[in-house]
Amino acid sequence: MEKTLIILKPDAVDRRLIGEITGRFERKGLHIVGLKLAMIPVSVAEKHYEAHRAKPFYDGLVKFMTGAPVVLMALEGNRVIEIARKMMGKTFGHQAEPGTLRGDYGVSSQFNLIHGSDSPESAARELKLFFAPGEILEYRTCDARWHLDE
Ligand code: RTP
Ligand code: MG
Repeated sequence: MEKTLIILKPDAVDRRLIGEITGRFERKGLHIVGLKLAMIPVSVAEKHYEAHRAKPFYDGLVKFMTGAPVVLMALEGNRVIEIARKMMGKTFGHQAEPGTLRGDYGVSSQFNLIHGSDSPESAARELKLFFAPGEILEYRTCDARWHLDE
């Protein structure tokens, strides 16, 4: 079973969309195994976005991500990385399809509400950056049988 890191970015928290976004993941049948409200330290944001270090938007992105609280979430499920990315939609709100989170709740390029890991390698690296050992739990909800095809 895969795990992925989701970040509800500062714009999502400030716009009171925590419940709406988290609810969509819950209703899809994805399993929340880690969850916390936090300020991201600058050093952690820099590591998280190190692949973008040379890009013109990098400094602004780090500033945005570290300037106000975010929600850090670890989701678990079959193919959860791909599913969460599909539910998020394309990077920019103005390009994201209606029905996706970014498509339904924003038009901006800079402020796009949510981050989701883009590969198993990124997920493993990012979950380690944001969650200490013991903060990601192993448990089953009673509806798991309807989602896991076991
Ligand atoms: P994320 O990493 O946040 O899940 O987003 P993503 O994979 O869809 O997009 P990525 O290319 O990894 O870009 C990371 C974040 O940088 C900001 N960005 N701004 N102004 C711009 O042209 C621009 N391009 C990217 C966005 O916040 C994007 O989510
Ligand atoms: Mg990305």
